[in-house]
Amino acid sequence: MAKTNAGILGTGHSYPEGILTNADLEKIVDTSDEWITTRTGIKQRRKAAPNEYTSQFAVRASCEAIERAELKAADIDLILCATVTPDQILPSTACLIQAQLGANNAAAMDIVAACSGFLYGLALADPMIRAGQSKYALVIGAEILTRYVDYTDRGTCVLFGDGAGAAVLGPVEEGRGILAAKICSDGRYEEQLYARGGGTKGGFSAETIARGDHFFKMKGNELFKVAVRSMTDISREVLDQAGLKTEDVSLFIPHQANQRITDAVANKLDVDNSIVYSNIAMHGNTSSASIPIGLDECVEAGRVHDGDVILMASFGGGVTWGGAVMRW
Ligand SMILES: CC(C)(COP(=O)(O)OP(=O)(O)OC[C@H]1O[C@@H](n2cnc3c(N)ncnc32)[C@H](O)[C@@H]1OP(=O)(O)O)[C@@H](O)C(=O)NCCC(=O)NCCS
Repeated sequence: MAKTNAGILGTGHSYPEGILTNADLEKIVDTSDEWITTRTGIKQRRKAAPNEYTSQFAVRASCEAIERAELKAADIDLILCATVTPDQILPSTACLIQAQLGANNAAAMDIVAACSGFLYGLALADPMIRAGQSKYALVIGAEILTRYVDYTDRGTCVLFGDGAGAAVLGPVEEGRGILAAKICSDGRYEEQLYARGGGTKGGFSAETIARGDHFFKMKGNELFKVAVRSMTDISREVLDQAGLKTEDVSLFIPHQANQRITDAVANKLDVDNSIVYSNIAMHGNTSSASIPIGLDECVEAGRVHDGDVILMASFGGGVTWGGAVMRW
């Protein structure tokens, strides 16, 4: 029997309408458009309205991805939703998405791996499909990060935005689809990005809320160094595993955290800027959503062609990191 690989059959993305510009932030925190632009590359980010929630954007992105894969929701047998900003603690956002899609034949669960969540999903769906355990998997990255951002902390509030991206994976012929994927973690760096409130350790009470324990806290410049190192190393590793070199890459979609991180990784890998995707100016850091949104924007813009080699790399709170290389 011919071997199969797992490949992406369709992609989609969705954003809230609301926009928060650097000029808006200048009015609420001690920052400037000049600082944000030069230190991060961000000009604006999307911000969900108070009555909007994560699964709404995930469902819109998923419907698009399923339609482009020319499938029906009932064909999906696995839903992996990467998010650190779920609709609610229980049930998983993946289950809420499963119900809204009417994906009645799917197992569903969330992945909590922060900004690496989408690549965690790809790396898990890949062997499931190759082994015949799953035929069509829906992998989603969806976040409403602005809900967990402290708008008095200028070190974090300028960075994060909201959105969702999705991809449908299914069997493709050998030599195409995901050629190599790897995911990693090192929990010793947990202090670099965390939100303690609301869990069984940090607890939740009027006091924890008043203290802002539920907001993200971050050691930005320490994370910066880990990000550059881990994304560079994992990119080299997956390319090596696939028997490819950076010269073979047609498109590099790194996690969108900071333009300076993207530039440093691209520089270390020695890939030309023309093949590096960046949408950070428009959307900031959307965590697990950033890579699938980037991929879908590239598909829509006609930047992805049959046979192209696409490299993706991410890092995030945990810390976690991951890489994947695929042939379109
Ligand atoms: C957060 C980040 C943009 C900060 O940039 P940086 O160049 O490292 O800046 P530093 O944290 O060293 O701060 C430099 C100065 O700018 C100030 N500063 C920080 N945020 C600022 C803001 N929004 N506006 C103006 N000044 C700011 C700091 O207070 C500090 O001032 P000081 O020198 O008087 O103490 C950067 O470290 C980063 O992107 N890190 C990675 C974060 C990340 O990706 N997190 C998500 C994980 S997926």
